[in-house]
Amino acid sequence: MVMNTREFGSGGPKVSVIGQGTWFIDRGDRNDAVAALCRGLDLGMTHIDTAEMYGEAEPVIADAIAGRRDEVFLVSKVLPSNASRRGTIAACERSLRRLKTDRLDCYLLHWPGSYPLADTVASFEDLVVSGKIRSWGVSNFDVDDLDELLEVVGEGRIACNQVLYHLQERAIEHAVIPWCERHGVAVVAYSPFGHNEFPAPRSDAGLVLQQIAAAHGVSPRQVALAFLTRRPALLAIPKASAAAHVADNAAAGNLALSEAEIAAIDRAFPRGARPRSLPML
Ligand SMILES: NC(=O)c1ccc[n+]([C@@H]2O[C@H](COP(=O)([O-])OP(=O)(O)OC[C@H]3O[C@@H](n4cnc5c(N)ncnc54)[C@H](OP(=O)(O)O)[C@@H]3O)[C@@H](O)[C@H]2O)c1
Repeated sequence: MVMNTREFGSGGPKVSVIGQGTWFIDRGDRNDAVAALCRGLDLGMTHIDTAEMYGEAEPVIADAIAGRRDEVFLVSKVLPSNASRRGTIAACERSLRRLKTDRLDCYLLHWPGSYPLADTVASFEDLVVSGKIRSWGVSNFDVDDLDELLEVVGEGRIACNQVLYHLQERAIEHAVIPWCERHGVAVVAYSPFGHNEFPAPRSDAGLVLQQIAAAHGVSPRQVALAFLTRRPALLAIPKASAAAHVADNAAAGNLALSEAEIAAIDRAFPRGARPRSLPML
């Protein structure tokens, strides 16, 4: 089985369509968490997402990627409260130390904050020049935030926008995905299983997933991941501390759904009206 890869933004490096989230990965057994991440890497889930906010996740990842850093597309995030001109650089250097690496493949502003975007971006660009990050992006940016950012940086600099996207929360389909597609920005779906809200198997919508899964001989979660990554700009980063869950998720990396199956999921999980503001966790 081969994990599909996609450009991380227009002209960007090829990255595994299904990656590995790490929020709360530090809460269980540490050896199990390291083993799960390593299993994911073995199965091609080489996109690892973390953040300075995620407690001890960065040091756990350091153990998992030791000796195999070059395989990994490593992403971390600066907290908005640290995203000043100097604070962004300092936060990145802290993350590099905790991850025991000399560079990040992408560095994100975790959500829009109060420091001027021009300051955060100037620091990101300095980090690119010094080789500490290879690219930068944002997270939880709605289209008005993206427009403001584009005014500051121009085309071709924003690698990704990491946003909430799962079967029961499809708000980004209204405007954020089209905006990112127009501007060559990768859309990374976080909490693709709704954090802990995956559709119940006996619900009407859950049954639709089960039927499609049975037709492919896969799990409902694999069907969900395939749906969420059905467009070329989309990638997903499920989190799994259990190695069996990791293996299940990795197998979604080359599952393709038919137009009829996509339409059936679309009907079972209607995207609803556009909300006033972008939902986030
Ligand atoms: N940028 C942001 O603001 C933001 C916000 C939220 C999340 N994120 C990122 O997105 C990642 C994923 O989101 P998330 O952690 O909120 O939740 P999620 O990936 O939607 O769901 C994680 C839950 O699903 C379970 N799970 C995973 N694979 C499974 C499988 N194949 N079968 C059954 N259960 C499975 C996990 O269990 P086990 O752990 O027990 O295996 C865990 O309880 C985060 O870890 C983080 O990296 C970013």
